[in-house]
Amino acid sequence: MQTVSVNLGARTYPIHIGESLLTDSAQLSALLVPLIQGRQVAVFTNDTVARLYGQTVYDALKDYAVDVFTMADGEAFKNLDTYRAAMDFLMEKRHNRTTCLIALGGGVVGDLTGFVAATFQRGVDFVQLPTTLLAQVDSSVGGKTAVNHPLGKNMIGSFHQPKAVVIDPLVLKSLPAREYAAGLAEVVKYGVIADHNFLVRLEAQTQALNRRDSTLLGEVIKRSCEIKAEIVAKDEVETGVRALLNFGHTFGHALENLSGYGVWLHGEAVSVGMIMAARFSEELKLLENGQAERLQKCLDAVNLPTALDSPLSVDEMLGSMGMDKKAADGQLRFVVTSGFGQAEVIDSFSDQSLKRVLTEFFQG
Ligand code: NAD
Ligand code: GLY
Repeated sequence: MQTVSVNLGARTYPIHIGESLLTDSAQLSALLVPLIQGRQVAVFTNDTVARLYGQTVYDALKDYAVDVFTMADGEAFKNLDTYRAAMDFLMEKRHNRTTCLIALGGGVVGDLTGFVAATFQRGVDFVQLPTTLLAQVDSSVGGKTAVNHPLGKNMIGSFHQPKAVVIDPLVLKSLPAREYAAGLAEVVKYGVIADHNFLVRLEAQTQALNRRDSTLLGEVIKRSCEIKAEIVAKDEVETGVRALLNFGHTFGHALENLSGYGVWLHGEAVSVGMIMAARFSEELKLLENGQAERLQKCLDAVNLPTALDSPLSVDEMLGSMGMDKKAADGQLRFVVTSGFGQAEVIDSFSDQSLKRVLTEFFQG
């Protein structure tokens, strides 16, 4: 087992990464028991994940009074109705301030559990047991918690750090192929924004990544968590450098939005968005020509989309990214790369250069 620390003063916590941590209840118990203050625990999960990994978690907690809150599977249920049902559940089961919530699942379960933990009795402990690659390398780390509002994703939430994150790379074997690839988009992003050598290693090992080689995955998850932990430690509540984690996301969110939520997985939209961001970086002469193509080859090789089936309207895309509001608040910012391994936020650029990049991208 390897451990990465998220250094946040009194809120510092470990990310434990090791094979079989979610199938060996004794190992898991040794990690969870020291974190639990009282006698009550609530496991939050969904049916899909509970069927696969629930029993190990219940066995690990056999000395506690365990209640299991099983939510419906899917982004559509990361909402205020499920939040309300979770609060009713904890009240009816008479959980008190010493309870510990255990999030067993992907980012949907983790974000909802975290927000419940942040607000139940003004904040209780929670632990993340992420089971998707996206959750292991991104959403379980850093303390962003949220539910969706009908008018916008993640619009209701707070920062609430977990007590620990426990990651078992072997659980990725059961993940559907699209979900697995979507997580790889965030992994590649870390190489692009923070570690060129890591990107080179990923490029060289795409076949092993596609085989879900568990030794390689352990290393890749660790490096991804280290990069995220370092950024979060510098800027916990995103007033500065944490925004770099959004490389490709401004374009990606617009694609998700225009295509209709649910068509793209988030990581798939981020994959296409990263190509757009790299091409924009080239257009601004920050990135050497040919690097966007290099990134595209890497993302293609791990089965991620890098182009659109049918072009979108440039004006709709600009509107969706907030360009139409730019004059009003002057706030439109993009994360660009000035060479793989580094990134920066820019808020001053010519609209023409952005339009040119989008037009050329949509023309293929
Ligand atoms: P998800 O939680 O919906 O999981 C994807 C699917 O995989 C689900 O059907 C789930 O039941 C299933 N699944 C999970 N683990 C499995 C396993 N080991 N084997 C088989 N099936 C498994 O999706 P996700 O991509 O993990 O998370 C997406 C969410 O994360 C979004 O709501 C997004 O907003 C959020 N997010 C949050 C942050 C953050 O910093 N908090 C960052 C990125 C994304
Ligand atoms: N996923 C971006 C962040 O945690 O800040």
